Amino acid sequence: MSKQLLFATGNQNKVRELADLVSSLDLSLLSLADFPDYVSPSEDGETFHENARIKARYACEYTGMPALADDSGLCVTALNGAPGVFSARFGGENAAAEENNEKLLKMMADVDDDHRDAYFAAVFCLSLPDGRDFFSEGRVYGRILREYRGTNGFGYDPLFFVTEKGKGMAEMSLAEKILISHRSRAFEGIFTALNSLFSK
Ligand code: IMP
Repeated sequence: MSKQLLFATGNQNKVRELADLVSSLDLSLLSLADFPDYVSPSEDGETFHENARIKARYACEYTGMPALADDSGLCVTALNGAPGVFSARFGGENAAAEENNEKLLKMMADVDDDHRDAYFAAVFCLSLPDGRDFFSEGRVYGRILREYRGTNGFGYDPLFFVTEKGKGMAEMSLAEKILISHRSRAFEGIFTALNSLFSK
């Protein structure tokens, strides 16, 4: 019987993405959808690393199985790294992506073209029942646009210009985005740890 790994997320898009990435490993992937009574811990860390660890460690203690969690967001240099860990709720608690984007556009309105640098960051944490935690971070660099560009993706994608591709994140197909995304890059690092635990 293959070993079990819990991905501590309720986001089924992320689960599908991960299931594909770990398909070469000897594991059966569970998610929070398999634990209907699970109450997620509050993400009150000050960094992506802290939040990823809060989620992974809590899920590991709750289930007794190895648990993986991610945390991600947008960091804008001219805003001293904001929205950062507050990316999902930048425009207010339960804010829609449009509200977050409108707030970002307003705050960046007077920032000139040479100072609009930003990056997306993603951190994975893998927590094991023996107390060990493994981390991995991935980034994609770019700048904040002055107006919406493209209709693909989600969140801040329509306001993010990807330097290495010379186009907006929301102008990229999902396949193109997966090749360069912060989450994929973070995943590459954590795959090494997963491979040593779950190789066939
Ligand atoms: P979480 O890690 O799923 O909680 O994501 C935090 C927030 O960061 C999301 O709600 C988005 O606002 C933002 N974010 C994270 N990754 C992306 C991305 O790939 N594109 C656009 N926004 C993102």
